[in-house]
Amino acid sequence: MEILKVEHLKKTYGEGENAVHALDDVSFSVEKGEFVAIIGPSGSGKSTLLHILGAVDVPTSGKVYMGGQDVFAQNEEELAVFRRRQVGLIYQFYNLIPVLNVRENITLPILMDGRKVNEKRLQDMIHTLHLEGREKHLPNQLSGGQQQRVSIGRALMNAPAVVLADEPTGNLDSRNSHEIMGLLKESNKAYDQTLIMITHDESIALQADRIIAIEDGRITRDEVIRS
Ligand SMILES: Nc1ncnc2c1ncn2[C@@H]1O[C@H](COP(=O)(O)OP(=O)(O)OP(=O)(O)O)[C@@H](O)[C@H]1O
Ligand SMILES: [Mg+2]
Repeated sequence: MEILKVEHLKKTYGEGENAVHALDDVSFSVEKGEFVAIIGPSGSGKSTLLHILGAVDVPTSGKVYMGGQDVFAQNEEELAVFRRRQVGLIYQFYNLIPVLNVRENITLPILMDGRKVNEKRLQDMIHTLHLEGREKHLPNQLSGGQQQRVSIGRALMNAPAVVLADEPTGNLDSRNSHEIMGLLKESNKAYDQTLIMITHDESIALQADRIIAIEDGRITRDEVIRS
C-alpha cells in the first residue's frame, strides 16, 4: 500500500540572482512500512525535502500526498493536526523548546492534541533513550546527544504512521547510535511504521530497504536494496 507520494516537488528559496533551487522536480512514492534512507552531499536539499514531507515548510510547486490526502490542500488547523498525529519529525538540529524540560518536550505533541500521556510508554521511552534522571532538565542542561534523544522521543511518543528522521544518529556515539537505530527499526517493523531517514553514514543507509540519493535538488538514484 502506498502511504506517501511526492509529485514534481520544487522548492526555491529567495528570488532572482539569489534564488536557490533546493528541490528541483522531485517525484517518488513510498510504501507503508518501508524504510527509506536518503543520502546526498551537504546542501543537496535533503532537509528541505524532509521538512516539506512533515509540512513544516511549503513547496514552491508540486504535490505531497500522505495516505491519499493532498497535504497542502489542508487549511492551517488541519495542517497542525496532521503534524501532530500523522508524522513524527526528528530535526537535524533538534528544535527543542528551550523553556520546557525533557518530559515536557517529549509529551508536548500529545498535550497539544488534548490527549492524556501514557505514563508506561513515556517511562519505557525515557529508559530506551537513556534519559533517566534527566526528566526535569532543560535542553541547555543537556549534551547534544541527549537533546537528540529527546527529539527522537518527541517524534516517536505518538506512534506516528510516518517517521521523518534527519540524521537522527548524527550526534551520538556508537553505542547510542546502535540503540537508536534499533529503536527506530523495531518501531518500523512492530507498527509497520514508515521510516524516512537522512544519513551520511553508509553503514546506516545499508540497513534500509531502499536508498534515494539526492544531488543539487534532484534524485540521482533510487534503488531498492532489500524487499
Ligand atoms: N531558509 C532558507 N533560505 C534560503 N536558503 C535555504 C534555506 N534553507 C535551505 N536553503 C538552501 O537550500 C539548499 C538545500 O539545503 P538543505 O538544508 O536542504 O540541505 P541538506 O541536504 O540538508 O544539507 P546538510 O547535509 O548540510 O544538512 C542549500 O543550498 C541551502 O543553503
Ligand atoms: Mg540537512
